[in-house]
Amino acid sequence: MDSFFSGKKIILGVTGGIAAYKSCLLARLLVKLGAEVRVIMTPSALEFVTPLTFSTLTGNEVIVNIFPETQKNGVSLKTWHIEYALWADLMIIAPLTVNSLAKIVHGFADNALTTVVAALRCPLVAAPAADVDMYNNKVTQENLKILKAMAYIVEPEEGFLASGLSGLGRMAEPEKILEASELVLAGFSKDLEGKNILVTAGPTYEDIDPVRFIGNRSSGKMGFQIAKAASLRGARVTLVSGPTAETAYPGIKQLKVRSAAEMKKAVDKNLSESDILVMAAAVADYRPESVAAKKIKKEENIKSIELTKTEDILGSIEKGDKKIVGFALETDNEFGNAKDKLTRKKLDMIVLNSLKDKSAGFEFDTNKVTIITKEGKIKEYPLMSKFLTANYILSEISEL
Ligand code: CTP
Repeated sequence: MDSFFSGKKIILGVTGGIAAYKSCLLARLLVKLGAEVRVIMTPSALEFVTPLTFSTLTGNEVIVNIFPETQKNGVSLKTWHIEYALWADLMIIAPLTVNSLAKIVHGFADNALTTVVAALRCPLVAAPAADVDMYNNKVTQENLKILKAMAYIVEPEEGFLASGLSGLGRMAEPEKILEASELVLAGFSKDLEGKNILVTAGPTYEDIDPVRFIGNRSSGKMGFQIAKAASLRGARVTLVSGPTAETAYPGIKQLKVRSAAEMKKAVDKNLSESDILVMAAAVADYRPESVAAKKIKKEENIKSIELTKTEDILGSIEKGDKKIVGFALETDNEFGNAKDKLTRKKLDMIVLNSLKDKSAGFEFDTNKVTIITKEGKIKEYPLMSKFLTANYILSEISEL
């Protein structure tokens, strides 16, 4: 499958802050993923990185002067800023200094970058960066409120700053800006702000003895992508995860569990604060009746293990007015089974994964799902990345 960024036209605006060095990596990542990148720098950005760095990385001319002397890319001299603004599918400004922020939100068009922003038709992603006091400054905070209505803001992070101080203001890492850009390019925004979402992911392991367990092939990827997408869309996310190799997205509260019983405990404890529960975990239906205290030896010649049913987490929760979403992974009679689970578990929506689909399901980074709501709406989605699938699932939840 082609990269999502393949063929996408992106303007990367770079303003004068030390984080500009990280934007070189961002440019590189975008180009590597197949995007066409044109860079515009403010004069102050030149103090930190050179246009040659970006033109080498992107293969395109870098614009610094509002009245450029040379013209490439088929852009006419008089209206290059309009041509650029119309050309782009997305503009990213990283880093965005407090100075450029102030200018942009008040409509200034005094350099190449601010002029293009003033003429922009496509979505804007902005990654502010400043020293802690400059960032927390009242005026900056007011300006950020205005920016919020104009752009998707990739919030800065806390940490060690170039000044030696420590605090909020470090520009988000390029990977995070890239993920936000994918989200925005796909047409999603921070529409889940103020929502608390509880997501479960991965398998559960039911111990047989200190060495062995009963597990399943769930990788946890789908649930982790739902958690990440919800976080990027502004939700407060709690992720209850079974044993998996996946890493939770920064800022997500992750609770690691092992067994179905532990998962149930964690869900029950966190459910009351949640508006939405998405049970993407592949919870074991059975566990050994008892766990052997010592490793079972071959000589014991055991023929069978006595099993008992685990408790159905979805089936036993107090739903209230929360939106409850389940998953169904089926190998046959997909629709029938999924609909039956939707009713039996009193769900608002169920996401059906079919193992019959190539490149969908366990371990893949892509998925193909069908969404069924309790009102009877059925929507089949094509094969796409689990990140995009996660976003469509979240949008369907929002519409419930
Ligand atoms: N689920 C749950 N607790 C369990 C088992 C499953 O909450 N003990 C949840 C899963 O997280 C999923 C939904 O129920 O969201 C459906 O899971 P699935 O395993 O497909 O359904 P089961 O009821 O276990 O039915 P079966 O295994 O027979 O298909």
